[in-house]
Amino acid sequence: MRVDNKHYRSIFLNDDCSAVNVIDQRQLPFRFEILKLKTADDVIWAIKEMVVRGAPLIGAAGGFGVWLAMKDSINSADFVDKFYNKVNELKWARPTAVNLQWAVDRQLDSIKDVSDWEEKARILLETASSICEEDISQNKEIGVHGLELIRSIIKEKNLKQINILTHCNAGWLATVDYGTALAPIYLAHEAGIDIHVWVDETRPRNQGAKLTAWELMNENIPHHLISDNSGGHLMQNGMVDMVIVGTDRTTLNGEVANKIGTYLKALSAFDNNIPFYVAAPSSSIDFQMKGDGTKITIEERDSDEVNYMDGLCDNEIVRVRISHQDTLARNWAFDVTPARLVTGLITERGVCKSDKNSILKLFPERI
Ligand code: MRU
Repeated sequence: MRVDNKHYRSIFLNDDCSAVNVIDQRQLPFRFEILKLKTADDVIWAIKEMVVRGAPLIGAAGGFGVWLAMKDSINSADFVDKFYNKVNELKWARPTAVNLQWAVDRQLDSIKDVSDWEEKARILLETASSICEEDISQNKEIGVHGLELIRSIIKEKNLKQINILTHCNAGWLATVDYGTALAPIYLAHEAGIDIHVWVDETRPRNQGAKLTAWELMNENIPHHLISDNSGGHLMQNGMVDMVIVGTDRTTLNGEVANKIGTYLKALSAFDNNIPFYVAAPSSSIDFQMKGDGTKITIEERDSDEVNYMDGLCDNEIVRVRISHQDTLARNWAFDVTPARLVTGLITERGVCKSDKNSILKLFPERI
């Protein structure tokens, strides 16, 4: 997508393959800085610190991370152990988004029948690049299917302008390009549809305020930032026609783990009869996980993220404490929305109900 009219992907290789470039998302929207990740440790750090974040982007970074782990260890004495230990550390750098585990497993699978280590390294680089390309094409498809939904809601409700609420950031920054939840919005805008987006601020890290609002601004899409607590009120007052969010892990039974607060938006949408859609590329569907979603590991992050906020002051990014210095906080990063509250999943193969049979009808090879 565009930044100052130049096209960027959120992750890309240097021409000479010496580094993986990423946009430092901790600095946005105040500064646009590209960081170079040169080792697997750099990738692990970038994922943990949320330099890169968003399930599909974490997966893409993980793909490159496995390749870098191979490059880092290939000439050392105990390199086989070193490689597998590093890969394991990478795989669990953040636990909730299935994309990271999926990408690491896919990488390991791609080299399992190859004995030459130089050849393994070549395949790992190729597979990491394929993960990125596939992510982009899947997101475009999600955009196309989501656009059809937008058109049908406009028709059904006879709308002049459609108001869509989104939570967190599931835009191009959260993926390699286009985004998942924002892809239909980008396509609708391109198609000349009058669209307006309500952007949840998404405390504690404010991905909505900092990232989604910035993305929409760059694409000239009308939007307003709202506090996380506003959604219910807007829904009660007919100001939301549709909700679209992303997902970090959707179980085979259609339970949706996504950014903390998503569940409350889903409850509110359900109560107000507003369609609640989840943009879910197959890389974010955990085909192994059945059950009611309680098995999903919910990442708990540093409580400082709740006790402090950062922002711009006199052109410097500063951090301020927002509670008493002795206040204790807890910080769960995700919650699980039960399938019964989800109107549908928007996947790269089409829209389906959020249940096992419907998911497997679209992805029969995963049975
Ligand atoms: O903690 P984050 O910023 O990585 O959380 C991101 C989200 O919850 C997104 O909604 C999700 O990853 C889907 S991104 C296409």
